[in-house]
Amino acid sequence: MIEFTLNGKNVISNSPPETPLLWVIRDELKLKGTKFGCGIAMCGACTIHLGNDALRSCVTPLSSAAGKSVTTIEGLDSANGKALQDAWVDEQVPQCGYCQSGQLMQAANLLDGNSAPNDEDIDTAMNGNLCRCMAYVRIRRAIKRASQAVEK
Ligand code: FES
Ligand code: FES
Repeated sequence: MIEFTLNGKNVISNSPPETPLLWVIRDELKLKGTKFGCGIAMCGACTIHLGNDALRSCVTPLSSAAGKSVTTIEGLDSANGKALQDAWVDEQVPQCGYCQSGQLMQAANLLDGNSAPNDEDIDTAMNGNLCRCMAYVRIRRAIKRASQAVEK
């Protein structure tokens, strides 16, 4: 039995400790916003926050979350998280949408550590989050818009 906090609520999982956190979040705890893309930490679709870190939940064992705080797209309500979601709408970022929760979680982690990222900072931070629809230019614009909105 492993206990952790998910989007501010205490949860318990009875899955084996080595179970990928992504499966626990989606299949056991029924939050479907975090996506499965590759399963091998190569696409970023499954990105969540564990404490202050953005990580790939497809390769993170449940045991890593024990006693810690996990945030998924459903709970991304920080100032940066909200600004990013607004900017995503304003810039009409998504196309098919499949990669987008991972993109937002990664972008929020970027802004949490760097409130005014330049193009290079953005490209470096977002490098591992793939988008088959090639929304990269809009993603970059939205991150800049969000950073400016939070600065005001
Ligand atoms: S599904 Fe986790 S990185 Fe692709
Ligand atoms: S919006 Fe379609 S994969 Fe990114």
